[in-house]
Amino acid sequence: MDKLTLALSKGRIFDDTLPLLASVGIEVAENPSTSRKLILATSDPNLQILIVRASDVPTYVQFGAADFGVAGLDVLYEYSQDHAGGLYQPIDLNIAKCRLAVAVRQDFDYEKAVRQGSRLRVATKYVNITREHFAKKGVHVDIIKLYGSMELAPLTGLADAIVDVVSTGGTLRANNLIDVEDVMPVSSRLIVNQAALKTRSKSLQPFLDAFEKAALE
Ligand code: ADP
Ligand code: PRP
Ligand code: MG
Repeated sequence: MDKLTLALSKGRIFDDTLPLLASVGIEVAENPSTSRKLILATSDPNLQILIVRASDVPTYVQFGAADFGVAGLDVLYEYSQDHAGGLYQPIDLNIAKCRLAVAVRQDFDYEKAVRQGSRLRVATKYVNITREHFAKKGVHVDIIKLYGSMELAPLTGLADAIVDVVSTGGTLRANNLIDVEDVMPVSSRLIVNQAALKTRSKSLQPFLDAFEKAALE
């Protein structure tokens, strides 16, 4: 029988998933922050871990290259707008908690711009979520897709606003930005490949149960 494969991204999701694995007695042989290996063995001979980019976790799981994975709701929501079916999201792991928010320069009057019906330029890596958020508000936006360092966009005149992850607010403060509107609360979810859920339920189910239990604690 093939090993079960879990897709994780390095950094906070890997770090926060380790205690959940430990609760089922599983240790990971190496840490991706120090190792260059992308396939990590674990103390369970039937479980291996793939280290992928955070935004690639849903792709690996949907196409069955991984049986299950951990991804932020921000990434999952953005992905689901472009890809129908194939992903089962049973468990909120309550890790990597943050929120998506609209942020602007301190000297930009967001409320006024919205009130006046101005067209806003919004930079983000969450194009689908941003489009939907402003469409619901009836605000016209030009969306500029970025891949990181979103906070720079309002500072350089690239955009009026950003939609990005906020946790402590430290990054916004350090860049003289303020958050002016919540878009969605975010935590990481366990996602499972639909076919694996049916054909490999015997080996998967103990993990799903353990993750669910650990997430509630
Ligand atoms: P990336 O390289 O894509 O930025 P991260 O490891 O930073 O990957 O983020 C992975 C997930 O963790 C995000 O999709 C989001 O759900 C969550 N996240 C991102 N930034 C923070 C943060 N500052 N605090 C808590 N959770 C965060
Ligand atoms: C994330 C996110 C924000 C920051 C928000 O960056 O992109 O910049 O966290 O967190 P805060 O409100 O606590 O400051 P991350 O640390 O993931 O760095 P990255 O640019 O490598 O994604
Ligand atoms: Mg990040």
